Amino acid sequence: MRSTLARRVALSIIAGLFVLAPAAIFVADAGANSLNPPQTTRKNSGTPNSSYVLKRHGVVIKYGDKYITYSAPPSSLDALGQALFLENCASCHGTQANGVPANGTNGAYPDLVGLGPATITFWVDSGRMPAADPRVIEAPRRQPRLTPNQALAIAAWVNSLAPSYPLIPTPHLKRANVADGAALFALNCAACHTIEGDGDALAYGTYAPSLRHIPAFQVVEAIRTGPANMPRFSGNLSDQQVNDIVAYVTEYIQHPQNPGGFGLGGLGPVAEGFVGLLVGVGVLILVSYWVGERS
Ligand code: HEC
Ligand code: HEC
Repeated sequence: MRSTLARRVALSIIAGLFVLAPAAIFVADAGANSLNPPQTTRKNSGTPNSSYVLKRHGVVIKYGDKYITYSAPPSSLDALGQALFLENCASCHGTQANGVPANGTNGAYPDLVGLGPATITFWVDSGRMPAADPRVIEAPRRQPRLTPNQALAIAAWVNSLAPSYPLIPTPHLKRANVADGAALFALNCAACHTIEGDGDALAYGTYAPSLRHIPAFQVVEAIRTGPANMPRFSGNLSDQQVNDIVAYVTEYIQHPQNPGGFGLGGLGPVAEGFVGLLVGVGVLILVSYWVGERS
C-alpha cells in the first residue's frame, strides 16, 4: 500500500520535471533572446516643459523658448515617409515600425513606435540608419544614405503612429554663452568625449565619437535623445544650458582659437611640454654653443 503511494508520488515528480524543465528552458531562452542584439527600451514620451507651445487641431506642433525651438515634421510628408520606410527600414524594423520584421522574430530590432521625431532624424541624418551591419555593437556615423527631407518624412510617418517628443530642434546660437557652455561641457560631456571633443573608448567595445564635425541641431538631438550608450539629458539641463553646450561644441571645439599660435592638435599638456622641451631646451643649447665659441 505504502510503496505504491510512494511510487506514485515519485512518478508524478518525475513527470512534473519532464513538463517543467522544457518550460523553464523556454522561458530562460526567451529572456536571453530579448537582450540580443543590444538595444534600448527607452521611449522619449512626456510633455515638453516649455514657455512656448503651439498647437494645431489639439496636437503640439512647436514648443520651446528663445534658446531652442522644437518643431514637428509636417504631416503632409506622412505618405512619402511610409513609402520610404517600407523601402529602407521595414526589412529590419517591420512594416509597422514595431521592431518585428517579416519573419516574425519579436524583439530582434528596436521598436520605433513612440520614439520622438528627433530620435528618428538623428539616426538617419547621421547615416547610422539604415544599418550597414545590424550586428555591430555600435552603429557608426556614416555618409547619410537618405536626404534630410527624406529623413524628415520618415520621422513624420513614424510619429503619426504614436505622436511623441522630442520634436526636431533648432538651436539659436546667437543667444548662447560659450563660456558657460565650456563649464557645462566639462561637467556633463568631457568624461566620455574628452574636453577637446575628440572622443574616446568606453567599455564593452563601445566608444564616444569625436564631436568635430557634428551639425548644431544634431548635437541637441544627441543630448535630448541619448543615442545608444549615451545618457539622455532631459530635465537636468535647460534649453538655455543645452544651447550653451552646443555653442561650445560647434564654435570652440570645431573652430578652436589658439592664441598661442599653434594648436598642436589640441593634445594638451604632454604634447605642449614636449614641444617646449624640444624647442626651448634646443634653443638654449644652441645659444650656449654660440657663447662658448666666442670666448
Ligand atoms: C539591417 C537592419 C536595419 C535596417 C535596414 C534599419 N535599421 Fe534601424 N536599427 C537596426 C539595429 C540593429 C538597431 C540598434 C542599433 C544600435 O543600438 O546601435 C537600430 C536602431 C535604430 C534606431 C534607434 C532606436 C533607439 O531605441 O534608440 C532608430 C531610430 C532606427 N534604427 C531607425 C531606422 C530607420 C528610420 C531606418 C530606415 C531608414 C532603419 N532604422 C533601418 C537595424 C536596422
Ligand atoms: C557616458 C558617456 C557619454 C556622455 C556623458 C556623453 N556622451 Fe555623447 N555619446 C556617447 C556615445 C557612446 C555616443 C555614440 C552613440 C551611438 O552609438 O550612436 C555619443 C554620441 C554623441 C553625439 C553624436 C556624435 C555622432 O557621431 O553622431 C553627440 C553630438 C554627443 N554624443 C554629444 C554629447 C554631449 C554634448 C554630451 C554632454 C551633454 C554628451 N555627449 C555626453 C557617450 C556619452
